[in-house]
Amino acid sequence: MKLIVDDPNFPHGAKELDIVVYPNPILKKVAEPVEVFDEELKELCQNMLYTMYKAPGIGLAAPQIGIGKRIFVMDVDYDREFLDEDGNEVKISNLNPRIFINPQLKNHEGKTTYQEGCLSVPNIFDDVERYKTVDVEYQDVNGNKHTISTDDLLSICIQHENDHLDGIVFIEKLSHLKFNFYRQKLVKEKTRRGALK
Ligand code: NI
Repeated sequence: MKLIVDDPNFPHGAKELDIVVYPNPILKKVAEPVEVFDEELKELCQNMLYTMYKAPGIGLAAPQIGIGKRIFVMDVDYDREFLDEDGNEVKISNLNPRIFINPQLKNHEGKTTYQEGCLSVPNIFDDVERYKTVDVEYQDVNGNKHTISTDDLLSICIQHENDHLDGIVFIEKLSHLKFNFYRQKLVKEKTRRGALK
């Protein structure tokens, strides 16, 4: 996929990482807090943002690239324009990258439903119920603490990504019937990919 980008917020020079696909066991582990705020952490966050934009997705949690740390990156604001019918050429603009380290969700209110997808659960989209608003305390790449109040897509996406840090994938929040159906589909696809190798 060719990404066309002209935006100073794009992590130019960063590296694309491999995204882990369900049912990989790393997605089921509870991630560990980040304690060291160094250059390596900054580089990891830039690589995660790059990987997210390249996918292209709106959120990516560290377990999805095989790293069991409490980090996720997000951009719920940028524009994506597919320049050809196959979706092989994508132009992105108006980037608003966000990085959340050691996030903690507080003071949720209301309920909302949104059709979610996940880069680790390819080709599956379904309605998930979430809190409508949520406050999130988190640290930035320098270890400084922040608190923001969120609603709409930002709130939904934060809840989705925060679940990844607790070993929860969105299909596990659906009915048992739907979850079993999707899980079987994903296991079958994994077996097929394995057979093609
Ligand atoms: Ni996800």
